[in-house]
Amino acid sequence: MELPIVILASGRGSNFEAIANAIKEKRCDAKILALISDNPGAKALEIAKKQEIPSHVFERKNFSSSEEFDDALFSAVEEYSPQLIVLAGYMRIIRSKKVFEKYKNKIINIHPSLLPKYPGAHAQKDAFDAGEKESGLTIHIVDESLDGGPIIYQEKINISDCKSAAGVSEKILKREHMAYPAVIDKISKGIIKLE
Ligand code: GRF
Repeated sequence: MELPIVILASGRGSNFEAIANAIKEKRCDAKILALISDNPGAKALEIAKKQEIPSHVFERKNFSSSEEFDDALFSAVEEYSPQLIVLAGYMRIIRSKKVFEKYKNKIINIHPSLLPKYPGAHAQKDAFDAGEKESGLTIHIVDESLDGGPIIYQEKINISDCKSAAGVSEKILKREHMAYPAVIDKISKGIIKLE
């Protein structure tokens, strides 16, 4: 069964594009109902247009609190009745308790490190600066903690040959593009259960 998903992205959108391509190539049994962004300049919005996927933008500056912002954005999500919400480079921490109550175990994220190591926005640089020989990627359920929800998939990646933090990012990103659609496919088929 095609798993109905909504994707949230703030920037480049390469993971979003990788998921859309995997769906077209029948490597991922899902359907992207909409792309929602908090950034009107996000390249992800251009990708959505090209892929003919409906998109919406909500800007934090138009709301008086993070909770109000989250509630508005997630009421747009709700219109699509997705079974899974996929964060793909969505750079905003979700603050609304209502959202976590309604979507418990239904929001996932991809993070470019072996969590719990290196949470936050500079995971690849942090791993490189620490002299790590190995880092990786983590796909996890989103809960109220920062990058701390239950882990559903992890992949180790040798970064000892990377000459810079950008090199680490690039190497991990290539693997993200394979791993994220594959994990969504497994969720769709019930092989990975979110609980
Ligand atoms: C990826 O490295 C992802 O792991 C992190 O943010 C980045 C998003 O890249 N959460 P893109 O927007 O999918 O190209």
